[in-house]
Order: sequence, then structure tokens, then C-alpha cells
Amino acid sequence: MSELVKKLEALQVEAEAMLTKAQSSAETEAWFRDYLGRKGALTNALQGIGSLSAEERPLIGKVANQVKVALTTALEARQQEIANAEMEAALSAEGVDVTLPGRPQNVGKIHPSNAALRQINNIFMQMGFQVYDAPEVETDEYNFGLLNMPDGHPARDMWDTFYTTTPGVLLRTHTSPGQIHAMREYCPQPIRVILPGKCFRYEDVTARSEMMFHQVEGLVVGKNITFSDLKGTVVAFANQMFGEGRKLRFRKSYFPFTEPSVEVDVDCVLCEGKGCRVCKYTGWLEIMGAGMVNPTVLHNGGYDPAVYSGYAFGMGVERSAMLKLGVDDIRYFFSNDIRFLERV
Ligand code: PHE
Repeated sequence: MSELVKKLEALQVEAEAMLTKAQSSAETEAWFRDYLGRKGALTNALQGIGSLSAEERPLIGKVANQVKVALTTALEARQQEIANAEMEAALSAEGVDVTLPGRPQNVGKIHPSNAALRQINNIFMQMGFQVYDAPEVETDEYNFGLLNMPDGHPARDMWDTFYTTTPGVLLRTHTSPGQIHAMREYCPQPIRVILPGKCFRYEDVTARSEMMFHQVEGLVVGKNITFSDLKGTVVAFANQMFGEGRKLRFRKSYFPFTEPSVEVDVDCVLCEGKGCRVCKYTGWLEIMGAGMVNPTVLHNGGYDPAVYSGYAFGMGVERSAMLKLGVDDIRYFFSNDIRFLERV
């Protein structure tokens, strides 16, 4: 009997020693087959158990079971060690450092032109203006002729124009042709609309001028519309857009489609009118052109100028955004430099 116990103990010592040599899952599996499997050493060692006496058998059974439990526990521990080592090896081979902070995801945001456009739209919508969509590709007639600039009119030179290869078709240089579309659609009803959208000018691209930019046009037509209505609307707009308590200046100007015409300045939002680089040391920033709709234009829109009057204004969206954000180069808006787009 004691011989069999010794044999089992020796088997355990040997098996444990062999187990420490196993270096992979495949090797631990082979070890299991050799020692604990159905044809393994432990089963072999117990072959003669049937010939033992009834007193001896339970003792041997107990020892055999202890050996089996000890070896199974050792196997599990070794398997875990190997799994850990394999994981470490795989991680360092792939160069993954799980302690590194994650890469941030770039989250998109509203483009500064669109943000300004939406803000302008919202201010006018609160005042009861509707948004009217007009085409970006226009005819010479709508962009100039019907706006009181017939062929050869010198004021056409105020806008450098992209013409298409189709005669009489061009990219609109301003949103004002939309005035004619709106009037012809609504006549003879009163109108209170804004017309936001892209404009195109055949210009050298510089810090102050782009060949594509956005404008928001405003048009109000009705009976007894006066310059005071224009003024009140512009003041209300400027206070919301550029901050409460802004000073405004209406300078006389000239546009063929308005009479009288003005350009509207706001006191510089950056230096509070003291004078700085952005306002070119004048203390004032120009925000829009405006005026009373020229009777000829009302007539072209279908309204009788003896009965109806109206006002119109047009402002540059990027220009307003630049003033608000203190950006001094319009080219940033469309060069898609991610550093600019993230910052503003
Ligand atoms: N269309 C003019 C421009 O682009 C602005 C303007 C609009 C002026 C409406 C008066 C009335 O310069």
C-alpha cells in the first residue's frame, strides 16, 4: 500500500515539475493528457487498485483524489499565467498602450457664416419678416435692368460681374434682384420679407473682399411705408445683432434702386467708437446699404408708386460676422482652415 502512496506522491512531484515547463496553451493541454487524462499517468498508477484489500482501497482513493485536486489546481494557475503572458506579449507586439488617453473625436459645428445668417434671419423673423428664396443664377434684366440700371448705366460698374456663356445670364452680384421676384409674386399684397443667400463678384480676393459671400436683403412694400419705418427696423436689428445701446449713423449714399439711399454705420463694436484697426480709426463700421424703393423699381414689380411705397436694405453676412467676432480677413470664412472654424 505505502508503495502505491509513494508512487502517487512521486507522480505529483514530477507532474508539478513538468507543469512549470509548459510555456503555451498547447503545452498545458499536452501535460493534461500525460498526467490527468483518461490514459494519463494518474489513471495508470491506479490500475492495480482493484487487487487491494477493502481497508486499503479508501485510503488510496483519498490520496489519489488529493493528487488529482492538487494537479488540477496547479494546471488552472499555470493556464492563467500563460494566458496573461500571451496577452502581454500580444499587446506589446501590437504596440497598444491601453493607458494612453483616447483620441478626441472632432465634433462638427455650425459654420460662422451660417451662424450669422441664422441669427440675422431670426431677428427679422421675430419682427414679422418672412424668408423669401430667390435664385443665385440670374438674368441681366433682374440683376440690373429691372433695378433701374438699363444697359450702359454707369452704376452697373458698382458690381463686378460673373457672366455665364449664355447671353444675359449671370451670377447675381447682390440679393436685390430677389426684390423683383418677391414683388411680382405678391403684387398687389403688402410685402415684408428678407432674402438671404449667396452673391458672387468678379473681384480680386483680398482680406476685405471675396468672390462669393452671403447677403441678407430686406424688402417692405405697402401703403404709407416711410423712411421712419426703415430707421426703426434697422435700429431694432442693430441692437439685437451688435448689442443693446448701439449708436447708428445714416449716411446719404446712392443706389439706382432706392431713393433716397443711405449707408448705415454702427459704432465700432470692438473699440466702442474710440477708433481701432477694425474700424480703420473712424469709430464706425458700415453694416448695410438701404433706402426707399425707387418708384421705377416698384413699378417694375407691379406696384403703382402713387399708391405704394417701400423700403429695402441689403447687408453682408460675413461682414457682420467679422465685426462681431473681430475677424479681420474675410478669406478665413471659405478657406476651410479647421483651426479657424473650430475657434469662431
Ligand atoms: N444691393 C446693394 C449692394 O449689394 C445693397 C442695397 C440693398 C442697397 C437694398 C439698398 C437697398 O450693395
